[in-house]
Amino acid sequence: MNALVIYESLTGNTRRAAEAIVGELTDRGVAAVACPTTGVDYAALEAADLVIVGTWTDGIFVVGQRPARGARLRALPSMLGKRAVVFCTYALDAGRTLEKLVAIVEGLGAEVLGGMTIRRDRIDDGARDLVGRVLDLDVAHP
Ligand SMILES: Cc1cc2nc3c(=O)[nH]c(=O)nc-3n(C[C@H](O)[C@H](O)[C@H](O)COP(=O)(O)O)c2cc1C
Repeated sequence: MNALVIYESLTGNTRRAAEAIVGELTDRGVAAVACPTTGVDYAALEAADLVIVGTWTDGIFVVGQRPARGARLRALPSMLGKRAVVFCTYALDAGRTLEKLVAIVEGLGAEVLGGMTIRRDRIDDGARDLVGRVLDLDVAHP
């Protein structure tokens, strides 16, 4: 299986989560790379069996939460025919950010298999959990 993690990050938490996910996948024998939304690795996207899209929660902390940089996410390249998993980092309450992110990534043409919120003070645990769930999905052998 080949995985590509595409992340949007302002202060570094979501980038750290993306890098931790790549580290976990690699440790478990899955080829994976990460890139920011501003510099998508097209060759890696073409080769990917699984695309993992992550962003941070933007809102007024307990209301109005949404995926940060929604316009930039909606402008990502087509993921038609790809399977995807999404995640968002947050501080207090992610609200419906994950559901909204699922809709954005489905809008890019991907089949979204699931998603996870990751609290910003539990990045490594969150990354490990997400990778465990991804490997349980057995994406490479549908
Ligand atoms: C403008 C702004 C709005 C935010 N709104 C929320 C929010 O509504 N709920 C929440 O739980 N966290 C909120 N956060 C916290 C971020 O989602 C969290 O710190 C995240 O991990 C940041 O990711 P990054 O370091 O990759 O930019 C907000 C942060 C910023 C800068």
